[in-house]
Amino acid sequence: MASSTTTSSFTPDSALDLLFSPDLISDDVKKSLHPDVHVRLMSATPLTDQPTNTFMRPQIRPLASTDYTRGHLNVLSVLTAAPDPGAAAWLSHFNALRAQPRTYYTLVIVHKRSDQIVGVGTVFLERKFQRGLSLVGHIEDIAVDEKQQGNKLGLRIIQALTYISENSGAYKTILNCSDKNIPFYQKCGYEKKENEMARYT
Ligand code: ACO
Repeated sequence: MASSTTTSSFTPDSALDLLFSPDLISDDVKKSLHPDVHVRLMSATPLTDQPTNTFMRPQIRPLASTDYTRGHLNVLSVLTAAPDPGAAAWLSHFNALRAQPRTYYTLVIVHKRSDQIVGVGTVFLERKFQRGLSLVGHIEDIAVDEKQQGNKLGLRIIQALTYISENSGAYKTILNCSDKNIPFYQKCGYEKKENEMARYT
């Protein structure tokens, strides 16, 4: 699959064309992506034999215009079908999101050794007329690479998205999920409220 083409070394924020400013991501969440957690995830080598320098710390950052090559669609396919539209169409979609400032916030967690994406999530800000021209944050498309699940990456993504939503002035942040994910979102500080209706075309 073209979207999983491996790039060999980690690319810093400064060399990337990002969807939004990385300053909007919580420093607490950035710091909480501890290198030890990452090392435990990525290798069968005993922890005592592993380096734990900060270079190994996974990075959370906004989606970048070149993330098609870092497995963005592969990670999303953990959640639902994410067929490959090709690099040009993917980039066009990225540019369409960025053309609506202060609306789409998609962030990724990147494995520093491989420069591949291991977690994704989005918060979309809806502008309402009621409640004094209020804002509502909609959390969407949360996915963590299967090999990385259970190690708090999903929690960090939700914390970072909630921080963006609340700091943007949203009076509430909401999401839809399956019954089996309710305990996960409760661990993230969310509570069950009302019901979801859907109609598929
Ligand atoms: N049931 C019970 N508890 C859970 C579950 C679950 N299904 N998933 C996570 N938890 C708990 C963890 O045990 C942990 O608890 P702890 O703090 O007591 O140790 C806490 O929730 C945080 O879990 P994380 O390790 O951060 O979860 P993870 O990184 O695996 O991410 C996620 C969770 C995103 C659901 C991941 O498993 C995944 O990608 N699943 C497949 C795709 C999916 O279902 N995405 C969500 C769709 S809903 C939406 O997008 C709005």
